[in-house]
Amino acid sequence: MLTIDDLGELKGRRVLVRSDLNVPLDGTTITDDGRIRASVPTIRQLQEAGARVVVCAHLGRPKGTPDAKYSLAPVAQRLGELLGAPVAFATDTVGESARSTVDGLADGEVALLENLRFNAGETSKDDAERGAFADELASLADAYVSDGFGVVHRRQASVVDVAERLPHAAGGLVLAEVDVLRRLTRDPERPYAVVLGGSKVSDKLGVIENLLGTADRILVGGGMVFTFLKAQGHEVGQSLLEDDQLDIVRGYLEQAEQRGVEIVLPVDVVAATAFAADAEHDVVGVEAIPSDRLGLDIGPRSAALFAERLADARTVFWNGPMGVFEMEPYSHGTRAVAQALVDSDAFTVVGGGDSAAAVRTLGFADDAFGHISTGGGASLEYLEGKTLPGLTVLEN
Ligand code: 3PG
Repeated sequence: MLTIDDLGELKGRRVLVRSDLNVPLDGTTITDDGRIRASVPTIRQLQEAGARVVVCAHLGRPKGTPDAKYSLAPVAQRLGELLGAPVAFATDTVGESARSTVDGLADGEVALLENLRFNAGETSKDDAERGAFADELASLADAYVSDGFGVVHRRQASVVDVAERLPHAAGGLVLAEVDVLRRLTRDPERPYAVVLGGSKVSDKLGVIENLLGTADRILVGGGMVFTFLKAQGHEVGQSLLEDDQLDIVRGYLEQAEQRGVEIVLPVDVVAATAFAADAEHDVVGVEAIPSDRLGLDIGPRSAALFAERLADARTVFWNGPMGVFEMEPYSHGTRAVAQALVDSDAFTVVGGGDSAAAVRTLGFADDAFGHISTGGGASLEYLEGKTLPGLTVLEN
């Protein structure tokens, strides 16, 4: 992949950087600034090279028009704090404000454009509409750096089309993330254990399929586990269940057995009367989930079992919380898995999105893990073996 060094002299040049600043917000309060922190080194590198840095990013999934609750304004403020200098904020993406903000930049200064997804061209499936938006973005800069690893699986204007229109390079974050994922896909040290959680098994089908050929053990928790438990013949009460995936999951369980991949499922769960922190809840065996309850976390015996199956692993990849970690009564399974990774000597990778937010929310330090990826969907698609358009475009 092309790197920033390949762009040559940057002093005085306008460089458009696509970062992933899609952080969780509570109102206008950023609850986990991990992705902003991760974007800082590349921005600094460009500042130090004397570039005029124009950062662009998305937040949430607005529908192609401005929507105040998805404004990147709080992110501009936080980015400025982390950089130690104010970040000029453009209140539109490619309009009057963007142009005048970029024109006002001195060498080494940084601007952030408003949420790219306020413009329908960003995510359009229509090449011409996306291309038209990319033309406007490209007109704001002389070179482009792709540093938003979390979006490289998206064929979107600021990820792919703009790279086709400007001299381009991968930023340090994209390079570092790809390096780690390569290590997981090419000859990982064994035993290689993968912990999968999160709500939907249908989001993880491709990755499970692929992992059946590479991992030694797959530990499953989170909402998706109830489809596995049901496939094994357990009743799961009111728990999240994807009936239409049952046959596929049964197929995975059979394949795993044939291929010698160990699938580790919980033996107990925390079953609650409602999806609420103050709901009545008890630990029950997976064979005894009451019909009027829903499972919101793995139970303590499962947490101990998972820790035991991770203890001798040499490589661990973890994607997806084990329960509703945002609610204290259902956070213990996720905490136990995080602790098992912290205690392990393995190369440990936390795969993005919710799992990264979970470990930080639960008070674990970033450096307690081998690598915390900024990309949820992107790292899963990489592990699936898919071609990621935002990486392919940086190859030449
Ligand atoms: C993410 O949160 O995984 C990335 O920022 C991509 O966001 P998206 O799934 O809305 O495209």
